[in-house]
Amino acid sequence: MTLADLNTLLTARHSCRAFRADPVPLGDIERILTSAARVPSWCNAQPWQVVVTSGAETDAFRSALWAEAETGQAQPDLPFPTGYSGVYQDRRRACGWALYEAVGVEKGDRAGSARQMMENFNLFGAPHCAILSSPAELGPYGAMDCGGFVTAFTLAAQALGIATIPQAAVAAYGPFLHRYFNIPDDRLILCAISFGYPDTDHPANQFRTERATLDEFVTWRGASAE
Ligand SMILES: Cc1cc2nc3c(=O)[nH]c(=O)nc-3n(C[C@H](O)[C@H](O)[C@H](O)COP(=O)(O)O)c2cc1C
Repeated sequence: MTLADLNTLLTARHSCRAFRADPVPLGDIERILTSAARVPSWCNAQPWQVVVTSGAETDAFRSALWAEAETGQAQPDLPFPTGYSGVYQDRRRACGWALYEAVGVEKGDRAGSARQMMENFNLFGAPHCAILSSPAELGPYGAMDCGGFVTAFTLAAQALGIATIPQAAVAAYGPFLHRYFNIPDDRLILCAISFGYPDTDHPANQFRTERATLDEFVTWRGASAE
């Protein structure tokens, strides 16, 4: 096992926004979850709990979620970012525009961008959705641990040829999700991960995002990479 192997996985993975309908075998879902749970967590608390939907359960959920998104009020358990400024705003715009360009939504086409945004609530057609929660009492550190779980989930899935997309958009409807999945109020619903086999020909899957270089995010003290 080399860093090159890991980098192959890391660069092959991308957020998938169009899935085929065929289901992932239960054994593979279990393997992904088992791998994801290997990540570190503070005190080894392993704060994640996951609801995984399949088949008709996914379809019933996507219908109910869509209806909620059309009429309900966004109320995430974990408050969404209050703003994106500077480079964060630049990067946010760049990935949004790359998506809209890929699917043929032109700048200023509000109806088109709203239609694409609503695809979140169709779970991008995925046959499975994982809803992730963390105990409220662990606060941001539980969420941090769960972030590692999300990343490992996406990489383990990639290793099996299964595509994923983490979705904060789903977590916008906190009270609805608590009711729908009977998730107790002492847990924070953090995000969903929709997953399945990718529709590789779909326009939404034809772009890739970029990453900042080291000089943009590393401060060297006492040693430098010259
Ligand atoms: C916690 C988290 C939440 C996200 N929520 C959404 C979302 O609601 N909708 C969406 O289309 N993409 C969502 N994404 C995907 C990001 O937009 C994507 O990871 C980023 O643009 C980098 O692209 P890549 O995953 O293809 O490398 C989310 C990613 C993370 C890690």
